[in-house]
Amino acid sequence: MKKILLLTLVVALMVTMLFIGTSCKEDKTTAEAEEVTETAEEAEEEVAEETTAAGELIGVTMPTKSLQRWNQDGDNMKKQLEAKGYTVDLQYAENDVNVQLGQLENQITMGCKALVIASIDGSALSEVLSKAVDEGIQSIAYDRLIMETEDVDYYTSFDNFKVGVLQGTYIEEALGLADGDGPYNIELVAGSPDDNNATLFFNGAMSIVQPYIDSGQLVVVSGQTDFLTIATPAWKSETAQARMDNLITANYAGDTELDVVLCPNDSTAIGVIAALDNVGYGSADKPYPVITGQDCDIANVLAMIDGKQSMSVFKDTRTLAAKAVEMVDAIIKGGEVPVNDTSTYDNGVKIVPSFLCVPVFANADNYKEILIDSGYYTEDQLTK
Ligand code: BGC
Repeated sequence: MKKILLLTLVVALMVTMLFIGTSCKEDKTTAEAEEVTETAEEAEEEVAEETTAAGELIGVTMPTKSLQRWNQDGDNMKKQLEAKGYTVDLQYAENDVNVQLGQLENQITMGCKALVIASIDGSALSEVLSKAVDEGIQSIAYDRLIMETEDVDYYTSFDNFKVGVLQGTYIEEALGLADGDGPYNIELVAGSPDDNNATLFFNGAMSIVQPYIDSGQLVVVSGQTDFLTIATPAWKSETAQARMDNLITANYAGDTELDVVLCPNDSTAIGVIAALDNVGYGSADKPYPVITGQDCDIANVLAMIDGKQSMSVFKDTRTLAAKAVEMVDAIIKGGEVPVNDTSTYDNGVKIVPSFLCVPVFANADNYKEILIDSGYYTEDQLTK
């Protein structure tokens, strides 16, 4: 009887173990199956993603090839979009508004699925963008806000007011203005009046500089402070140089020395430096004034190393391009478009949802770290 009982128990145990084993196996098999299904789904999703991106045409329009930065912006965007499977039509318009309008018309006709536009005249695109909307094409304003239209969908740029604040703060610190030093002679230069950024740079800089003009610690010898008077159409170096030539002749003859020039970017700084070089600035008894800039163009980094330009503002075009590419990708695939500012950029018709990147102060002391160590330039590019 005991034997029978023991045998029954052993059989029961074996059956149970067999059952557990099978069910474990079943579980494992189910898990494996789920895993395989998931992997297949992921792969399908990836293929679907690639299929959505594959060949889709994206229009990218940049203002000009004559400035280093726009070449980098365009190249970076093209490379990054192509890496995601898009086809890119990249155009430069040599600062000619009508040429840019023609390029956009063309991109719409070619069937571009999204447009990334660094505008020449921010207020000239309403008509062409309304055509884009009719074709279901979304547009991203790149670096410069597109004005006076409902039909721009997103904006990505750097914090443009902050760029000006960095320039103004540099002047404040270099001259010891907060400690009451002065008076110093200053001249003001602004960017192109058709570029919304130009006003923001100027306002940012003046938020720091204006109180010192009011207190008399900074003296604008020419008296030229009005934005349109000090503006530089198309941001041209030659135009900035010609104005500085005139300012020097009219106001800085004799003993009156120029101590500081607020320049909004590197192309205008190049013009100002050329005008100063022509009248002997840069010698021991006539040092260069404090000169600001923006973009860290190679010629200007070399000018900083040479002690001709005091500072620049580094805006990493790789980061900005990557953000625009993320926006395009989200638009095409129906994802969430990244934005981090929904209150600042009012284009006169609406507030354009924006993603703002952070500008960085650069000078002869930190350029190696921010420009070479980050791989933005090679050491060779910054060696004369
Ligand atoms: C850009 C600057 C550039 C300037 C001239 C501005 O809109 O923000 O980086 O220096 O245009 O091209």
